[in-house]
Amino acid sequence: MNHTCRIELDGRSYELPVVEGTENERAVDISSLRSHTGYITLDDGYGNTGSCTSAITYIDGEQGILRYRGIPIEDLAEQSSFVEAAWLVIFGHLPTSTDRERFSALLTANSQLPQSMLKHFDAFPPHAHPMAILSAMINTLSCHEPPQAEITDDAGLERAAARLMSKVRTIAAASYKASIGEPVVYPRYDYRYAENFLHMMFSLPFKEHEVTPEAAKALNLFLLLHADHEQNCSTSTVRMVASSQANLFASCAAGVCALWGPLHGGANVAVIEMLQHIHDSGVNVTDYVKKVKSKNSRTRLMGFGHRVYRNFDPRSRILKKAADELLSTLHVHDPLLDIAQELADAALGDDYFIERKLYPNVDFYSGTILRAIGIPVNMFTVMFAIGRMPGWIANWKEIHDDPSTRIYRPRQVYTGNTLTEFVPRTER
Ligand code: ACO
Repeated sequence: MNHTCRIELDGRSYELPVVEGTENERAVDISSLRSHTGYITLDDGYGNTGSCTSAITYIDGEQGILRYRGIPIEDLAEQSSFVEAAWLVIFGHLPTSTDRERFSALLTANSQLPQSMLKHFDAFPPHAHPMAILSAMINTLSCHEPPQAEITDDAGLERAAARLMSKVRTIAAASYKASIGEPVVYPRYDYRYAENFLHMMFSLPFKEHEVTPEAAKALNLFLLLHADHEQNCSTSTVRMVASSQANLFASCAAGVCALWGPLHGGANVAVIEMLQHIHDSGVNVTDYVKKVKSKNSRTRLMGFGHRVYRNFDPRSRILKKAADELLSTLHVHDPLLDIAQELADAALGDDYFIERKLYPNVDFYSGTILRAIGIPVNMFTVMFAIGRMPGWIANWKEIHDDPSTRIYRPRQVYTGNTLTEFVPRTER
């Protein structure tokens, strides 16, 4: 469909093109608005702004749909793996078996960190936040990388993506080891992606950790479900940085910083802290829900609500089922999962949450899975970052491959002082 939008400003009428996506979502293209009218649009928090066109991930927040490159998340969760989904997200189609084997081999070959980088871990204070270490170390990695010029085609990007995805996992495990005063464990070449991470997290030089298939499967699913989520805060940050032609590693390091906050990737930590607080303090779930509804409390029901999903978050459904299965297979009873369920039941039947369309998001149940496989709470957001790496790489690629990309540079409506006279120091 090719239609336009007519707007009236100061008594004059203007026509603006309407852009339509492949799933029929429509946008008024206002890129020429200012040059024709002198006006800009204002959209605090970008809730109504399409910052780009993108062919990677489709979300229908009203219907709870999430698809990577057109493929429903439920099908990928059931039949695919994190590494396969990562390749799909980055390159746009499912890998052939040759593609998959080549990419897996690249991941394995790149799992080691440059020896000199290992010394950096000693320089962080003992309680350094793992997200700070991760972001700093991804930037450090860029110092050891071939120049950006290597990424001229898909083969070059595949090599860079494998280096980044594989080494990020090693950095994450090494930062954990450093934080608990244990020696860094080297990756094993016979392990697959998720297994290798669990090995590096929990093995000791004198005692090999036995990675169970259940733990590896659960981690694989967690990572797959986090692989991309269109223009969220961290991905938009990656695109913003990439638009200045910054390299892949610098752009993704910026994504880590954006993800860190409790309203974004940090929410998975906040959820567990909230559940633990309810558990330890013995506060009644109904009272807690009452508290989060109060305007004055400044407390939110963490793991609830989403800017886009207004019906349900499909990832939270998959994770809830996986958490139940994992805990029952491991014969683990987690009282925090019971509290989570009580909270969800209370909130889902409450007008406050119904009217505002607030449902459990991906973070509501992900912490339960991570706890069950032994991941410490301060590593939860790092786990999210490892999972989101393919999405950031794919978005970086979209910017990098598009010759029409302009540097991202929003405008503002200035509300400060009008022209103000400078008062010399002696007269103040
Ligand atoms: N608990 C209680 N009330 C909430 C919650 C919540 N979790 N989320 C939103 N609300 C209320 C707000 O107070 C507001 O109420 P009002 O209309 O009476 O003022 C209304 O719902 C709309 O909230 P906004 O903040 O405008 O919604 P927004 O789309 O900006 O925020 C967000 C989305 C940040 C996810 C929010 O729902 C939130 O803070 N949730 C808790 C944190 C969280 O779980 N974050 C993870 C998000 S998923 C991810 O990043 C992977």
